[in-house]
Amino acid sequence: MTVQSQSAWKALKTHFNDVAPLHMRDLFAQDSRRFENFSLQFNDILLDYSKNRITAETMQLLIRLARERELDKWIERMFNGEKINHTEDRAVLHVALRDFSDQPVRLEGHDIMPEVRAERQRVLELAEAVRSRRWLGVTGQPITDVVNIGIGGSSLGPEMVTAALWPYAIHDIRFHFVSNVDENHILDTLESLQAETTLFIVSSKSFTTQDTMLNAQTARDWFLKCTGNSDGVSRHFVAVTANRQAALQFGIDVENIFLMWDWVGGRYSLWSAIGLPIMISVGRDNFEALLHGAYEMDQHFRTAPFEKNLPVILALLGVWYNNFFQAQTQAILPYDQHLHRFPAYLQQADMESNGKYVDRQGNKVTETTGPVIFGEIGIAAQHAFYQLLHQGTKLIPADFLVAARNRQEIKRHHRILMSNVFAQGEALMKGKNEAEARAELEALGMDAEKLEKLLPYKIFEGNKPTNTILFNTLNPETLGALIALYEHKIFVQGVIWNINSFDQWGVELGKQLAVRIQDELDSSETAGEHDSSTRGLIDYYKRMACKEEEGR
Ligand code: F6P
Repeated sequence: MTVQSQSAWKALKTHFNDVAPLHMRDLFAQDSRRFENFSLQFNDILLDYSKNRITAETMQLLIRLARERELDKWIERMFNGEKINHTEDRAVLHVALRDFSDQPVRLEGHDIMPEVRAERQRVLELAEAVRSRRWLGVTGQPITDVVNIGIGGSSLGPEMVTAALWPYAIHDIRFHFVSNVDENHILDTLESLQAETTLFIVSSKSFTTQDTMLNAQTARDWFLKCTGNSDGVSRHFVAVTANRQAALQFGIDVENIFLMWDWVGGRYSLWSAIGLPIMISVGRDNFEALLHGAYEMDQHFRTAPFEKNLPVILALLGVWYNNFFQAQTQAILPYDQHLHRFPAYLQQADMESNGKYVDRQGNKVTETTGPVIFGEIGIAAQHAFYQLLHQGTKLIPADFLVAARNRQEIKRHHRILMSNVFAQGEALMKGKNEAEARAELEALGMDAEKLEKLLPYKIFEGNKPTNTILFNTLNPETLGALIALYEHKIFVQGVIWNINSFDQWGVELGKQLAVRIQDELDSSETAGEHDSSTRGLIDYYKRMACKEEEGR
């Protein structure tokens, strides 16, 4: 059944006409308990969703929609290892990587948990050896630099978490994340390194991603040039992959290959051996606490009634704006500096999952799916693009994320930070009406003519929705829960839109064409069959490259 034919969807369409003209300012004025009514707590995470353009009826209808879409069944299908990633014929079991229940997790009748635990144990042992300086390089020195070579899910998750858990990290090892095939990335990184004390982690689920493979080869060439010791590769290169054979062929020692499985999507893989940089950085206990936080969120997601279920509520609010208000975007605005890679991480998690126009039956969807995710550290964004949030012509729902307690070393910093979070939420919601703006200008003693001219610019319509996710501190457990919260939110939306959130066919075409164009760039012939723009660009580039060669 298509989503529009669900009775809840139809009811929401009608209901939208009632809600669209309402101003949140009035909704707050009418209900002194709006905050209590529209906020939820899970462990130390508070989700305040009261500053949304919703009424109690909106939430009832959205939850009815989730029921009509049989969300409960989909959740069980995922946790039970059904192949819900139907286009790749794969189960979706990243939740097994953080399952502490002692219950079997079955995939085609076989319990995968012993394998999951064994591989985690192996990779944690390596991490502990590196951290404790027992893992020695070719010249007997401990590791000072870890370079993760990977891209997308094989980079963004570990990079984001390593940054987020900086206060928990070992600080005498530096971490570098090389993803771009642009030589500048690897060369700039290598410049500051000593081969004898560097550990390279080649992270690639497929072990065929061209960017990663080329960067890994360049790193290995550099290592051999610096050390002249080919036996040393086994002390300095490890791999994380689902393709053991390819890693062996690359020359990685069998002992140094750590496995992930095809039932873990790249963008959902930081919980697996892909999390090796995190394990080295924060150690076993903190890594397990991260998993534990996610596990608790998984249990909450699986068992809490939809009305009290954080991922479900966040997802439904997203659907409300995406499909009824026709919002195109969703801003992710962490106010915690350590979460500075969180928006980038979520861009992949959300857009690669739900950026799809073909539904589970192979038909073109008739309702819009995943929004454009963008974001930045909130404070920086305030001084950069909040103008558009406040007075632009687009509706941009935003999530604020902030820790109630920070280091507490210099209290004033945190108070000012918090005041900004609260102020922005209030300002976006309330706005400033004409009477208020006028009164302010009058109080400045502005002459009447100037006042009238300036007045329109000083008015804020308000009624801009935000969720505030306020947690106690950004510790490993809470971070794990927050990531899982968004993972499940994405899944719920995929269920509502009837799309498969776990494949990514949309990345293929560009890769295919790049391979063909690479051959053309290598050849002296003019470019082959392309549109005139692409051919023009290729030929222009080749002429420039040729001139550069001649100039040498
Ligand atoms: O091209 C997209 C993608 O396949 C992502 O889904 C994935 O996270 C990334 O590339 C890296 O893939 P791999 O881990 O196989 O190198």
